[in-house]
Amino acid sequence: MAANNINQFTSAIVLLGLSIMATLDFTVAQFETGVCYGMLGNNLPPPSEVVALYKQNNIQSMRLFEPDPPTLEALQGSGIIVVLGVPNSDLQNLAASQANADTWVENNIKKYHDVLVRYIAVGNEVSPSNPDTARFAQYVLPAMNNLHNTIAKGELGIFVSTAIDTGVLGISYPPENGTFRSEVTSYLKPIVEFLVDLQTPLLVNIYPYFAYVNNKAQIDLNYALFTSDGVVVPGGVKYQNLFYAILDAMYAALEKSGGSSVRIVVSETGWPSAGGDSTSVDNAKTYYTNLLKRVKDGTPKRPRRIIETYIFAMFDENQKSPEYEKHFGIFTPDKQSKYGLNFG
Ligand SMILES: *[C@@H]1O[C@H](CO)[C@@H](O)[C@H](O)[C@H]1NC(C)=O
Repeated sequence: MAANNINQFTSAIVLLGLSIMATLDFTVAQFETGVCYGMLGNNLPPPSEVVALYKQNNIQSMRLFEPDPPTLEALQGSGIIVVLGVPNSDLQNLAASQANADTWVENNIKKYHDVLVRYIAVGNEVSPSNPDTARFAQYVLPAMNNLHNTIAKGELGIFVSTAIDTGVLGISYPPENGTFRSEVTSYLKPIVEFLVDLQTPLLVNIYPYFAYVNNKAQIDLNYALFTSDGVVVPGGVKYQNLFYAILDAMYAALEKSGGSSVRIVVSETGWPSAGGDSTSVDNAKTYYTNLLKRVKDGTPKRPRRIIETYIFAMFDENQKSPEYEKHFGIFTPDKQSKYGLNFG
């Protein structure tokens, strides 16, 4: 136990030094909004064209859900900052041994030394309270620890984190009352400790769209689309939009779990243009256009801090289901911009 703590402490110092260097490297692009590159379509352009499309549109960061070799090859020397996902199906293997983590980093990061990986997202939306992902929960922190050890040894200056969703919140309103569900606290608390020790952000997928369609009686569409005058919540704080309110509920829950110092990176957010309740090109365009402006301001709980955010997703993906899941793209598969978004 003690030896392990000292180890962690040493790694924290090493990582701290590296993260200062990384901050310098990433100064320009740090606060740009990125886009998730999902690949579940049979009509999508090849990775080299996708990377070119990111560059043409000044999209400076990309979230990848798995280390896809052709994409990593295409990203070499591109200057694009990458959030690299460890698929849930790989977690058990990475949790099993340090050697497995070393091999993963060798094959997916070191091999592509001109790719700027900034975060490793160890698992996506894993939660003991989610029947689809609960079986992976036991592997997340051990996999994070093993990957962190590899990263620290290699002085690679990459943050090891995990991407969670807002289903872990038991209470989310008013935002200040945000609290994790009791059945996830024993899962999340040690992860939060890891993030605090290593000064690493938590990745959170935030979808005002789903919050809105599941609570239409209570929530105004304009509030979800950033076009409301705002809502004064119990306690007296005024919220301009639902995105900020959800983000602050997550900050409040983190604070109650010892994570006051942890920054949140929004690792997914989006609004479908078709296929479901309140989906339309107009609504999606309004959502994305205003999102790009509003992430430049902070939330009531974290004022004047740019919110690092990854839009979901780059393309409409025709192999997803249900229907609305096929329409989250900001580009069509033939590379046309659906909303003319400006990442300037
Ligand atoms: C929020 O928390 C406060 C303090 O614990 C409590 O008094 C209040 O009733 C809560 N608000 C709601 C709407 O649950």
